[in-house]
Amino acid sequence: MNVLVLGLQWGDEGKGKAIDYLAHDYDVVVRFQGGHNAGHTIHFDGQKHVLHLLPSGVFSPNTVSVIAAAVVVDPLQLIEEIKAGNLEGLFCEKRLVLSESAPLILPFHQKLDNIFEESRYLKIGTTKRGIGPAYEDLTGRRAVFIHDLIDCDRFRKRVKALNDYYNKLIEVFGGEPITMESYIDAYLEAGEYLRPIIDNTTYLLHRFWKEGKNILFEGAQGCLLDISLGTYPYVTASHPTVGGVMIGTGLSHKALQKVIGITKAYTTRVGEGPFPTELTCATGEQLRIRGDEFGSTTGRPRRVGWLDLVALKYAVMINGVDSLFVTKMDILDEQETIRAAVAYEIDGQRVERFPGHIGDLIKLKPIYRDFSGWRCDLSNCRNRAALPDAARSYLDFIENYLEVPIEFISIGSDREQTLR
Ligand code: IMP
Repeated sequence: MNVLVLGLQWGDEGKGKAIDYLAHDYDVVVRFQGGHNAGHTIHFDGQKHVLHLLPSGVFSPNTVSVIAAAVVVDPLQLIEEIKAGNLEGLFCEKRLVLSESAPLILPFHQKLDNIFEESRYLKIGTTKRGIGPAYEDLTGRRAVFIHDLIDCDRFRKRVKALNDYYNKLIEVFGGEPITMESYIDAYLEAGEYLRPIIDNTTYLLHRFWKEGKNILFEGAQGCLLDISLGTYPYVTASHPTVGGVMIGTGLSHKALQKVIGITKAYTTRVGEGPFPTELTCATGEQLRIRGDEFGSTTGRPRRVGWLDLVALKYAVMINGVDSLFVTKMDILDEQETIRAAVAYEIDGQRVERFPGHIGDLIKLKPIYRDFSGWRCDLSNCRNRAALPDAARSYLDFIENYLEVPIEFISIGSDREQTLR
């Protein structure tokens, strides 16, 4: 069975843990959108590993990891991640494959990300990794790709043209122009290093599918950050939703049999943008500390709030979610009362839909339902039935409201702390 594992909130739902937990059952794990703005954290054997660009299957010995065509790739960052994780073995075993059609993130993309953030009247709070500007090049029909990296002359020519184009823009904003000349050799060396793993991943994935291999598609970021369906303009530049799989891989919808949605038992968000259930009080701070809610890519403190079931129901609807993986239940252990938004009030009217535009999103007030907390340590529970009544009631309510079964519950960061 081929399955998509997708974040249903604003990212950081615990996809790394979920995918690592599930990856053992899959032959192939595929990243299909985003770039090294992601930070997927995996704990095993008492150690913490953070992956940014590498698929979360790289630690499973029998899994092939694929970085597909719509992922924007900074080749230097990719190599750094491979080396830092001592993962060079993936090359000789052909357990890592990189799409020749993936657009490159180049130094001027990162520079532009910074310039745009500083100069824009509307700050997005991006990760400043150059993700947005690299995708802009793709839609602007100017992108330079992984396949260009392994043709020295073509790479030089294309990068020079783009560099000249962007230096004009950088100068308009009063920035220091970039001389790509000083980077070219490092990029070409990176191309040589990566050459053995570069392939046409569309045909490769079709072959895997035809051979009946089990494929897991790993979403990065979260549904509400989708460029078309998220809280625009406070979104990322890609499609972390079900359609992103087809766009990113070249597989058809027929290749996907199941969608598992990941949600925290509460909500977090990094960067700017509407967050209806945000807690700006001591409870928010308590959850931030207890949940270690600091960005794994940028270290920024995450904004923290109660679960937003209206937003989740929207995410379930647009992605056709079949089951849920609820993470970080244990972070709520100390709360006397736990709240979840079950509707919103906009201009005095009760609504149960997630607004389609920013005008309504900034106006709404959440309408909450309160739940008794369980006020005990969940970490010794080994299955759902063993959870305290209050925890089970909370989960039952989520399931009933969303009309989707909860298949997995995470009660700690380790692989083993996962209940079914
Ligand atoms: P960008 O993807 O760096 O352009 O950032 C756009 C928005 O998406 C910002 O609000 C970021 O904080 C958010 N974002 C990007 N990647 C992640 C992620 O992996 N987790 C959570 N938020 C993210």
